[in-house]
Amino acid sequence: MGRHWQVGGRLRMKKLNPILTVLSAAVIGFCIGVSFPVQIAPKVFPLSFGNENCTMGARNMLGRISAPFRNSTSNVDGSPLLQSNGTSKKFVPPAKPKGKERLPPNIVVQESDLHLRRLWGQPHEDTPTRKYLLVLTVGYSEKVNVNATVHKFSDNFDLMLFHYDGHTTEWDEFEWSEQAVHVSAMGQAKWWYAKRFMHPSIVAQYEYIFLWDQDLGVETFDAEEYIKIVKKHGLEISQPGLDIIRGVKTYDINVRRNDTEIHNSNFVEVMAPVFTKEAWSCVWHMIQNDLVHGWGLDWNFWRCVDEPAEEHMGVVDAQYVAHHAGFTLGNPGNDTLDGSRTRVRRRASDEFGMFNARMDSAHKAQAESSSS
Ligand SMILES: *[C@@H]1O[C@H](CO)[C@@H](O)[C@H](O)[C@H]1NC(C)=O
Ligand SMILES: *[C@@H]1O[C@H](CO)[C@@H](O)[C@H](O)[C@H]1NC(C)=O
Ligand SMILES: *[C@@H]1O[C@H](CO)[C@@H](O)[C@H](O)[C@H]1NC(C)=O
Ligand SMILES: *[C@@H]1O[C@H](CO)[C@@H](O)[C@H](O)[C@H]1NC(C)=O
Ligand SMILES: *[C@@H]1O[C@H](CO)[C@@H](O)[C@H](O)[C@H]1NC(C)=O
Ligand SMILES: *[C@@H]1O[C@H](CO)[C@@H](O)[C@H](O)[C@H]1NC(C)=O
Repeated sequence: MGRHWQVGGRLRMKKLNPILTVLSAAVIGFCIGVSFPVQIAPKVFPLSFGNENCTMGARNMLGRISAPFRNSTSNVDGSPLLQSNGTSKKFVPPAKPKGKERLPPNIVVQESDLHLRRLWGQPHEDTPTRKYLLVLTVGYSEKVNVNATVHKFSDNFDLMLFHYDGHTTEWDEFEWSEQAVHVSAMGQAKWWYAKRFMHPSIVAQYEYIFLWDQDLGVETFDAEEYIKIVKKHGLEISQPGLDIIRGVKTYDINVRRNDTEIHNSNFVEVMAPVFTKEAWSCVWHMIQNDLVHGWGLDWNFWRCVDEPAEEHMGVVDAQYVAHHAGFTLGNPGNDTLDGSRTRVRRRASDEFGMFNARMDSAHKAQAESSSS
């Protein structure tokens, strides 16, 4: 469905983009080179630094010393913004450092993880962060299936649960619960949590990230085997095949085939995706902060893998699951009430339209700025 022109559009932009990137990198590099001495030795070189080509950078560096809370045109991480007014993008020189730039670089730790630590003993003797991450959005009523799912994942996984129903301590009946991170926020959807609690810098240490629903039949699934297969085939975004004898499907392309290990597909659904950390870092940025249902993301996952997308995305046939239910968010019953399934579905569908419109207009803005 219209996917060919999308891939074409992407190729075109990739060709144009590097020019912008290289140009700004050169400017940043030059200005940093000039202003760095100011930063480390402000009292020795108070005003004499900078030159006509980079006075902004130097002035802002000095500004840091005299007026630390002045307005800034940089991001939280200190990188300069490319400001856009919709018709043009212009380079904004680096402003005063705001965050980690105030520190000596060797003390800066950019990444974290979701592995629990103990409060005693030597830090280096704590159990190490696991290689992979499993994240499940759960309600207590699905505990039997969630327990079965967790048991298909080895000790090589750290585990995080997003609780949408307020039940957290109840899960302590499962021995694995005390090793899990429990995030509780009433009535939210998977992509709401993912945006807020899976920032790429937090999950950067996990080679693969499983972001799964709770209603998957996992009798025929083994996570370690699955990872062996996706590694072997270089799949950056993947999902297990769907067994339609025991469960339901939405698209034929995601149905399990019984004569292959995997089949490539440039489409992977949102209910059981598996990402490399690099792909996740891209997908996280694509999640809109206000669009909680995430509809439309799966149609755009291909943007987050190497080209050609068809070769780096796929469905693992040899490790498959059954999808038990379809759309279950919202309360069944009176359709006119807030929170009813009908009204939830309507919002999800509206969000799909909004996401597509934003993606379109982002494309247009990018194309215009690249060609001007
Ligand atoms: C500033 O830029 C101009 C033109 O790009 C160049 O000729 C000049 O040498 C530069 N000045 C300094 C101090 O780098
Ligand atoms: C920062 O800039 C904005 C817009 O230019 C302005 O409205 C705001 O007052 C400024 N804040 C400070 C602290 O100077
Ligand atoms: C956007 O910026 C360009 C150049 O900086 C300017 O010519 C144009 O009028 C601006 N457009 C709007 C809508 O502000
Ligand atoms: C959780 O699942 C495991 C493996 O299927 C099973 O052995 C165990 O009894 C379950 N735990 C509970 C509390 O149901
Ligand atoms: C594989 O699937 C095909 C149809 O999709 C079916 O006819 C065949 O019996 C299946 N083979 C096995 C071994 O399950
Ligand atoms: C659904 O809720 C509305 C508003 O509260 C009420 O007027 C209506 O009678 C309810 N319908 C049913 C079938 O319960």
